[in-house]
Order: sequence, then C-alpha cells, then structure tokens
Amino acid sequence: MSVELLSRIQFAMTISFHYVFPPLSIGLGMLMFFFELIYVRTNNVLYYNLARFWSKIFAIIFGMGVATGVVMEFQFGTNWANYSRYIGDVMGSVLAAEGLLAFMVEAGFLSIVLLGWDRVSKKFHLFSTFLVWLGSMFSALWIVIVNSWQQTPAGYHIVQRADGSYRAEVSDYMEMIFNPSSMDRFLHVILSSLLCGLFLVISIHAYYILRKKYIKSSLLAIRTASMSGLVLIILQIASGHQSALIVAEYQPEKLASYEGHFDSNKPGNLYLFGWVNQEQKTTKGIYIPKMLSFMISADPDMKLIGLNDFKEEDLPPVNIVFQTYHAMVALGMAMLGLLGLLVFSFKNRWLLKNKWFQLVSSVSVLMPLLAVQLGWFSAEIGRQPWIVYHLMRTKDGVSTNLSAYDLWFSIIGFGIIYIFLTGLFFFTVRRQVVAGIKKYK
Ligand code: HEM
Repeated sequence: MSVELLSRIQFAMTISFHYVFPPLSIGLGMLMFFFELIYVRTNNVLYYNLARFWSKIFAIIFGMGVATGVVMEFQFGTNWANYSRYIGDVMGSVLAAEGLLAFMVEAGFLSIVLLGWDRVSKKFHLFSTFLVWLGSMFSALWIVIVNSWQQTPAGYHIVQRADGSYRAEVSDYMEMIFNPSSMDRFLHVILSSLLCGLFLVISIHAYYILRKKYIKSSLLAIRTASMSGLVLIILQIASGHQSALIVAEYQPEKLASYEGHFDSNKPGNLYLFGWVNQEQKTTKGIYIPKMLSFMISADPDMKLIGLNDFKEEDLPPVNIVFQTYHAMVALGMAMLGLLGLLVFSFKNRWLLKNKWFQLVSSVSVLMPLLAVQLGWFSAEIGRQPWIVYHLMRTKDGVSTNLSAYDLWFSIIGFGIIYIFLTGLFFFTVRRQVVAGIKKYK
C-alpha cells in the first residue's frame, strides 16, 4: 500500500475514534445544564441527582476527547507535513483560538462543576455548567471553521516560498472564518452532537428501566431528552437541506456524487437507496424522479451539473459517497421515528410496558454516533481527490520522508492503544452506571 493510502487510513482511524467523544460531550453538556436549570427553578431534587450523576460520565467522555484529540495535532506534522506547511497560517491561528478561547473555558469550569457541588452557590454552579457546555460548542466552532475552509476556501491568497513551494496566507480573517460553508456546517455539526448526547441519556435510562431501576428519575430524564431531541432532529433535517444547498452551489461534483447524478442534460433524481457504478456511469435504485432538482431549485425540470462534466481524476469514489450519505439520512429519519414514539408514548406509558421498546431505546445511541461518522465520511470523501478543495490534492499533502513500514508501525501502535482506551472507557462508564443515581439530596 502507498504511503498516501496508509496515511489516510491512519488519519481515518484516529479521527473516527476521536469523533465519538466531542459530540457526546457537547450533547451531554446541554442536558446537564437543562437538568440543573430545572432543579434551580423547581427545587426538584431528582433533577439535582441526575445532573450530578451525568457530570461524572461527562468527565470521563471529556478526558477521552482530550486524550484522542492531541493525537490529531501531532499527526498533521508527522503524516501531513506538506499539507500543514500549506495551510499552517489558516490552521495555526484558528487552532490557537480554539485552545485559548474554548478549551480553557471548558476545562477550567469543569473542575468547578465536578468539585463545586457543595462549595459554590447553586447559581454559580449552574453558570459553570453552562460555560462548560458553551466551551465545548465553541471548541467545535473553531475546528469546523478550519474544516470548512478546506471545503470552501475564502479570505486567503497564495504565496510562493523561497524553496518554490506554495502556502495559503490569510488575507481577510473574517472572510476566512465566515467562509461559504462554515456556519451551515457548524449548525449541522452542533445539532448532530446535541443528538448524540441526548441519545446517550435515553439509552442509559432506558437500560435502567429495562432493569427496573431508578424508574422515576429515568422517566424524567428520557422525557427531557426526547422532547428536546424531537425539536432538534426536525431542525437537523432542515439544516441538512441547507447544507445540501451550499454543496450544490460550491461543490457541484460532490452533490452529484451524493445522488449518483451523471448526466448534466437531465434533472436530478432523489434516491431512497441505490448503487452507483462509476465505470459504467450508471445509478440504479429506488428514486423520486426530479426531486433533487426540485429541492435544490424549486424547479423539478432544472438541469443539474452531472459527474460526466468532470475528469475522472477529479472525482471521488462516488458509490462510497452515495452510500455513506444515504445511510446518514436514513439514520436521521429513524431517529425522528424513535423520538416521535418516545414523546407520544408518555401518555400511555408504553416505554414502561414494552420490553422491545426499552431494548431498542437502550441501544439507540448507536444511531447518532453512526450518523455522525457517516455524514462526516460523505463530506470528506466527497471532497476527494482534494485535501484543500481545488487548491491542493491529497497526494500532495502527505509527508515525503515516511515509509510504508513507519506507517504500519504507527497504525498497529495506535490500534493497540485505542483497543486499550476503548476497554478503559467502557470499564469506567460501566462502573458509574452500575453505581447508579445516588441520592445526594
Ligand atoms: C436527515 C436528514 C439529513 C440531511 C438532509 C443531511 C445532509 C447533510 C449534508 C448535505 C452534508 C454534507 C455537507 C458538506 O459536504 O458540506 C452532511 C454532513 C454531515 N451530516 Fe448530515 N444530514 C442529515 C442528517 C444527519 C444526522 C441525523 C446527523 C447526525 C446525527 C448528521 C451528521 C452529519 C455530519 C457530522 C456531517 C459532516 C459535517 C462536516 O462536514 O463536518 N446528518 N449532512
């Protein structure tokens, strides 16, 4: 295997592992804040106990996010040195902002959240919880900005160095930050993260109900999570649509890949599922005719730019992009269905009566976690062969001094460490779940 492919495999492996924890902490941060807010306003101690229980699990997830995130920054230097030189001016300033403005707030106030329950006033504790949640979202904001810049670069100019190589320098900071896809992408990512945290709460409390434990607190937690979740998933579908409009405008070959649309002389169809044969330039499956054109332009007969208009070497692996994208959308719809059921089953207490419903709900956290990975794969693989869209190819971003041997060594090393970390994560979370919701008040 080539050094480029191995570097990509290593990056995919480390970032996919990392990308489990920040979304969970963003979503959990919101619910911790909600639980505590309800407690402060109503004095209902069940919410206090819930907030305290979840703050411990939050701390474990936060720790995992930090441990796995540090790897990413080193990896840019070791495996993607040419890319880092090229994008350094953009990435350096944004990552510094992330560290100083977001991570410090989150990490600093987390200590008050964890240790300050009986030491600071109710309101100051609530404020600290809010800042932890805000810090986690602010952290995501800067990361999403860099990522979006790679997708839709703006506010830069290209400078040639003395050694003949090129680099992108920021010429307009605001334009760089508010590049065409950053804010829509941020909204979509934040909503997906909130859903991850909400579903984690639903899963653990559905598990408690399955085991006939902490029924009263668990029903309260599931009610708070599923009611907020139902609103968020509807917003998520709308924000996904908005993201698709941006992709249509700035990355038409990516949009065409999402729906396997080859012929520019025809309107675009919307596939429910299907299979793309890139060599034969065909897409087969079940689709709604002209619906893609209608959703993009409100005109069902609008012709959309097709994959045939691009050189083969400028296209991503279309079927992978198609499948990952459609799986994300399908999971979004499944989440809508489950959240709807949960909300509408409060009245007849169906969750308490039906074992299958409890079982499905207790593993439901896998849905948003998987959707996040798949959505991200579709966005990133859909950008290929570019590491910076239309400016730098992925093969040109890789470090030149690495051998395949080095990469196998580090991939296996990371694999072993991540297996250990996964074990540690499940062990510590399980311990908290088994210890249960204590009656602090
Ligand atoms: C159900 C309807 C949905 C639609 C129409 C939709 C649409 C989209 C589109 C068009 C993109 C690509 C953006 C780009 O390439 O620039 C995207 C990316 C993504 N989606 Fe969705 N999505 C949906 C549901 C979900 C759900 C339920 C989740 C997770 C809970 C999710 C998580 C993501 C993530 C993490 C990305 C990658 C964002 C990035 O580039 O950083 N999506 N989605």
